[in-house]
Amino acid sequence: SLMEAARDHDVDGIFGDCGGNLACATCHVIVPPEWVELTGKPDAMEEDMLDIVETGRTPTSRLSCQIV
Ligand code: FES
Repeated sequence: SLMEAARDHDVDGIFGDCGGNLACATCHVIVPPEWVELTGKPDAMEEDMLDIVETGRTPTSRLSCQIV
C-alpha cells in the first residue's frame, strides 16, 4: 500500500499505527486532485475512519493504507 511505501521511506507524518487495518487514521494523506482518478475514492468504511481525522481533512483526503 501507499502507507507501507511511505513508512518504509520515513515520510514525515505517516505512521500506520494499525498496520493498515483501517483502525487508526494515522496514515492520512491528501491526494492532489490530478491523482484522484488513479487513486479512487474512499469506500464507506474508509469514510468512517476519515471522520476521526482531527485536522486537515480535505475533499481529496484518503487513508494511504487503502491506496494499493
Ligand atoms: Fe491505520 Fe491506515 S494504517 S488506518
